[in-house]
Amino acid sequence: MKTAERFIAPDDGRLDDAMRAAWDRDGFLALEGFKSPAELAELRARVDEIVETFDPDSVRTVFSTQQQSHAADIYFRESGDKVRCFFEAGAFDDAGELTVPKQRALNKIGHAMHDLDPVFDRFCRDRRLAGMAGDLGLAEPALIQSMVIFKQPRIGGEVGMHQDATFLHTDPVSVTGFWFALEDADAGNGCLVALPGAHRGPLAQRFHYCGDDLRMDRLAEQHWDENALVALEAPAGTLVVLHGLLPHGSAPNLSARSRQAFALHVYDRRTRWSADNWLRRSEDMPVRGFS
Ligand code: FE2
Repeated sequence: MKTAERFIAPDDGRLDDAMRAAWDRDGFLALEGFKSPAELAELRARVDEIVETFDPDSVRTVFSTQQQSHAADIYFRESGDKVRCFFEAGAFDDAGELTVPKQRALNKIGHAMHDLDPVFDRFCRDRRLAGMAGDLGLAEPALIQSMVIFKQPRIGGEVGMHQDATFLHTDPVSVTGFWFALEDADAGNGCLVALPGAHRGPLAQRFHYCGDDLRMDRLAEQHWDENALVALEAPAGTLVVLHGLLPHGSAPNLSARSRQAFALHVYDRRTRWSADNWLRRSEDMPVRGFS
């Protein structure tokens, strides 16, 4: 598999002509050295604190016994405006006991740290990101979702090929992903992979509410040539920007190395947020921009 081109991150976050051309052509943009080692260390320390204070017993029942799917579903559905920890599949045994320490059992934390946690707020509301969002055409950016993705050594699961607009839909599509490598991500530990240029294709699926049910509907055939995938290798500190229609995913992490990442999703308020999206926020927590 080919490795995607990376640019050196601009100091002020503003994109030059070559970067804009790569974004238009590929539907992604990899900017090495965007976040400093100090910024990464501060965020990772905060992640460690959240995990340290998280009591797995508080949600253990969610992931055990026969109520598993229903209770786990509610825990997920209500997480759009909260800070919640999600386990890897298979982190519990049949008796509902963790099979590995909680620090090694989590799949992700989501989905509103950018509004609820001061360290994440600072990491996200970065004036360089605000400038870049403008360069990417997000005239009225709205920060809608944040996720820490653990990709644990040995058990970090595969993320299948998908488009982010499947999950965060606006009309027209405007969701844009800002994905930060908190640790080195490479082909050996399950880095992102993507199909360059395929963001010009249609949205293939939508994950949305239909009444009280969450369902996945097919909108268009997907002609995604997996032979054309490129590896988005990203040293720690790299920012990868992803177009909402770009097909991307990642392989499982079978290595002994962790591959932590943080993703922030932003849409343009000039587009219409689809009310049947899975992600819902309380009315007293309106979505905010970069300031
Ligand atoms: Fe994604």
